[in-house]
Amino acid sequence: MFVSENLGVNSAGNLTIGGVDTVELAKEYGTPLYVMDEQLIRKTLRRFHDSMKKYYDGKGEVHYASKAFSCMEMCRVVASEGDGLDAVSIGELYTAYKAGFPMDKVGFHGNNKTDEELSFALKVGVGHIIVDNISELHRLEAIAAEMNVKPDIMFRIKPGIDAHTHDFVKTGQIDSKFGFALETGEAFEAVKEAVNCKNVNLSGLHCHIGSQIFDIAPFEEAAKVMLGFIAKIKNELGFEIKGLNLGGGFGIKYLEEHDPAPFEVYLERVSSVVKAECARLNIELPKMFIEPGRSIAAPAGITLYTVGARKEIPNIRTYISVDGGMADSPRYILYGSEYEAIVANKANDDRTEKVTIAGKCCESGDLIGENMPLQHAESGDIIAVCATGAYNYSMSSNYNRLQKPAVVFVNEGKSRIAVKRETLDDIIRNDI
Ligand code: LLP
Repeated sequence: MFVSENLGVNSAGNLTIGGVDTVELAKEYGTPLYVMDEQLIRKTLRRFHDSMKKYYDGKGEVHYASKAFSCMEMCRVVASEGDGLDAVSIGELYTAYKAGFPMDKVGFHGNNKTDEELSFALKVGVGHIIVDNISELHRLEAIAAEMNVKPDIMFRIKPGIDAHTHDFVKTGQIDSKFGFALETGEAFEAVKEAVNCKNVNLSGLHCHIGSQIFDIAPFEEAAKVMLGFIAKIKNELGFEIKGLNLGGGFGIKYLEEHDPAPFEVYLERVSSVVKAECARLNIELPKMFIEPGRSIAAPAGITLYTVGARKEIPNIRTYISVDGGMADSPRYILYGSEYEAIVANKANDDRTEKVTIAGKCCESGDLIGENMPLQHAESGDIIAVCATGAYNYSMSSNYNRLQKPAVVFVNEGKSRIAVKRETLDDIIRNDI
């Protein structure tokens, strides 16, 4: 009935998430409100790591891409499932570190890491650093020498794969700011240099072809290209690459018509390609890493809003204005991303209208979506926007000096605050 499996309707006719009444959540914590379902986060993590065990003989790690949704409570949940983390800034590293995350299970990313970030990553002992470019390699070598450590590194490689997704989230093609290009020989030159580096240990290669990808084929292609490169390194340099990180990017269902392949099928097919290629190329089976972000966080989350004004413009459209907008939900204005919405206190009603849900920011493009099927919504109703757990809170801003909403986790019928709502004093916290 709804796009995410954790949503239901209770006897009061209210939408529930993880069995908890969303209208009650709105009353208790106020709106806008991000709600995350801990059980679904855990279930999805397990689907990934159990499939990795099953299809790849346990020789792998799932690193949750924390850019999708990061806060200390999320890090604790991931840690308690025994999974690793992908962090892409000192802020994400710090969040994990302060949450007590086992830092040896963290991969540190970024196409332009600062010296401060590299030093911090070494200080807290991250598992490996995914080096993006040659100048980073040189800076890391120097910093590691000074700190008297020898970190494991991976190289981020552009495998030259075109994933069929939005241009802004494609990353595997040659014209990308991320990583070393294979086609130009840049990647091979970097590997040649790294194998002789005294202060870093080249432990693996990484690629990430994009995000919200429904097809498995581009992932299989990327794995083949990467293994071909690992074989070339073995044959020409006599050096064995032990780790292969295939990134994230698995698509999820935002709308009823979306039909992404199940993660189990992805892992089964990619594992079998990796095994077959390793046998064909006569190379050792590498340890495999994957970095799912959206697929873990998005379906677990919803955003709750209170309806304010309803504005019907005859023959044009009906605007339903809510108490949040692009500051907490930036993906429509950025990518035209579509979502399912439900009037939470009328969840059993049919969605008889098609409306534009508008935010409260001073900007015409500030919309949650257009042409959205919705129950008849009036002032005071609660609207739930579904599958917003990824790249909403993490990309939220204080535009128009709006306060960032709270994040609440629900688990087994109970709710708890994971991130407090910002106060007005938070808004002026750093103002002099
Ligand atoms: N690994 C790397 C190196 C990445 O760059 C990303 C996402 C991931 C893993 C996780 O990808 P996921 O499984 O979440 O698709 N803000 C955009 C998405 C940007 C994705 C950036 N990198 C959005 O809201 O759609």
